[in-house]
Amino acid sequence: MSAQDDEQSDDTPTQVRLSKLPSGVPDESTWRFTHDPTPEPADGEVTLRIEWLSIDPAMVGWITPKKSYIEAVPEGEVMRAFGLGRVVASRSPRLSVGDYAFGFTGVQTEATMNAMMLRPIDPSIAPLEKQMGGLGMTGFTAYFGLLDLGQPKEGETVVVSAAAGAVGSVAVQVAKIHGCRVVGVAGGPEKCAYVKDELGADVVVDYKNDNVPEALATATPKGVDVYFDNVGGEVLDVTLMLLNRHARIVLCGAVSQYTNPGGVMQGPSNYLQITTQSAKLFGFTMRDYLHRVPEALQDLSKWMDEGRLTTREHILEGIECFPSAVKMIFAGENRGKLLIRI
Ligand SMILES: NC(=O)c1ccc[n+]([C@@H]2O[C@H](COP(=O)([O-])OP(=O)(O)OC[C@H]3O[C@@H](n4cnc5c(N)ncnc54)[C@H](OP(=O)(O)O)[C@@H]3O)[C@@H](O)[C@H]2O)c1
Repeated sequence: MSAQDDEQSDDTPTQVRLSKLPSGVPDESTWRFTHDPTPEPADGEVTLRIEWLSIDPAMVGWITPKKSYIEAVPEGEVMRAFGLGRVVASRSPRLSVGDYAFGFTGVQTEATMNAMMLRPIDPSIAPLEKQMGGLGMTGFTAYFGLLDLGQPKEGETVVVSAAAGAVGSVAVQVAKIHGCRVVGVAGGPEKCAYVKDELGADVVVDYKNDNVPEALATATPKGVDVYFDNVGGEVLDVTLMLLNRHARIVLCGAVSQYTNPGGVMQGPSNYLQITTQSAKLFGFTMRDYLHRVPEALQDLSKWMDEGRLTTREHILEGIECFPSAVKMIFAGENRGKLLIRI
């Protein structure tokens, strides 16, 4: 923390700002804590007291000055994050005091922002932490990426990487709900047991301990019809060699590449398999589907109510732990959707 962190009362607003770009995984020196007053809302704006912050692998991309789907956070600015909070002041007809809302609030305890940039949240649908994960952005990402792009059919083989994580765990279960044979890839015996025993994957591959090419080939005797890729790197390269004709590869993310020095990403060398197998490779971000959120929310909530979809949240307490939270996600230490409760 900076020198500005002395003697703050619980009500003092706190912001976490980008201090300097990291080389590799962000650490404490990447961030600076400040305690600036929260602006009063102008016309069309609301002030939120933030209760939940989402920690996402994409945060490294959000600070990397490189062409992307969104502008990089400039040094000195409040770090970008998804947050969920309660409206404490409003000058917008869209949200009233007491309402809950979700959006890019930034890593801070309070935010004043345009109400049009926020999605109202109904707390009666599910606990707020579920609406930050499986019934929120990460669940919706798995739902649309798998179903709309992957188009899995009953009996097909679906491989999901980072299968124990927030997006992957939902993708595994949605593929099972659609009658697929699911192979989950995760790091370490504990996560692999979770993916098989709790999420219902048919087979798991422990990419940290197994011989990945051998284990994935053994796990997919009928080849791979859909690969839901969260990691890139070796697992993507190996899976490309196992594709069936007309397979679909959904590039949801590439967490194994995000912290490479200089932001240099290693692409797959086996990409010509996409040609030889007449496969399709899809990229997407969840913002392609924002207009269809109610559809995903309805199906995912129903499956959760029926006990066919389970999610877990890894909850850290207090905005002070933001620097260590970012490190955790790249060390694979999170057990489910990583959140900070404020
Ligand atoms: N396209 C979109 O709109 C969208 C939206 C949200 C998320 N995503 C992407 O979805 C992926 C998963 O995100 P999430 O929020 O669900 O995170 P998460 O899976 O809950 O957490 C990240 C996990 O990635 C794994 N990991 C970390 N470093 C790795 C490495 N070097 N190689 C392989 N695996 C590594 C770790 O699991 P292990 O212990 O198993 O290694 C870690 O727990 C990310 O690529 C993210 O960028 C995309």
